[in-house]
Amino acid sequence: MRKKIAAGNWKMNTNLTTGQQLASEVINMVNSEVNSDVQVILIPPYFHITGVKKLIGPAKNIFLGAQNVHHEDSGAYTGEISAEMLQSCGVTHVVVGHSERREYFGEDEALLAKKVRKVLDFGMTPIFCCGEKLEVREADKHFDLNKKQVEGALFGLSEEDIKKVVIAYEPVWAIGTGVTASDDQAQEMHAFIRKLIADKYNQATADSISILYGGSVKPGNAKALFSCPDVDGGLVGGASLKSRDFTDIAKSF
Ligand code: PGA
Repeated sequence: MRKKIAAGNWKMNTNLTTGQQLASEVINMVNSEVNSDVQVILIPPYFHITGVKKLIGPAKNIFLGAQNVHHEDSGAYTGEISAEMLQSCGVTHVVVGHSERREYFGEDEALLAKKVRKVLDFGMTPIFCCGEKLEVREADKHFDLNKKQVEGALFGLSEEDIKKVVIAYEPVWAIGTGVTASDDQAQEMHAFIRKLIADKYNQATADSISILYGGSVKPGNAKALFSCPDVDGGLVGGASLKSRDFTDIAKSF
């Protein structure tokens, strides 16, 4: 059985007070309302990580994620954060290759492959993001592009390692826009990505990997998206900043 996952990426939002407040609310609601077979991952900005870890406490199905990581172990990289630092604070999941990192910080497949490797080396789970921009979909090149992204960053991994990765398909045209991919569009791409993995590795490996959908997931569309056979949950941006909405999304399996 693949893991069901609701991950909330807060991006560059909240301050110390509002972030702690949000985390407390979400953790309380998740503890009392969400089935324990759903993994809930809170992905706040770095400065919240130790505080949110404390708030999560003993909850078994709530995990702590980071939005990015540097690909080197340590050294003179002012402003960056390493996998070891994250792991030492209790982080279990790290987003790698979010489209905003690709777009604004020039991250490419070669770099992302190194980040994925580093996250795995420190025993954490990479949440690897792929997804096309609108013009790519309009030119009917979206399958090619997602293939290139997945192959470029992940296909150097062993079978054992790729099984530890979570993939998030996030069409860029659906992120923060209020436009969601239709259930059919999401299912079609998720099935395509799973087949890529099956062809490169094998079906059992492909069947074991959770593939999340991201892009304007809301309480009103989560149920339909999560009931698609190849959609194993969501990577949620905007709606993860509202405790009620995010909890309702986590209840949509
Ligand atoms: P959104 O963001 O839910 O605000 O569209 C999703 C994401 O970027 O992970």
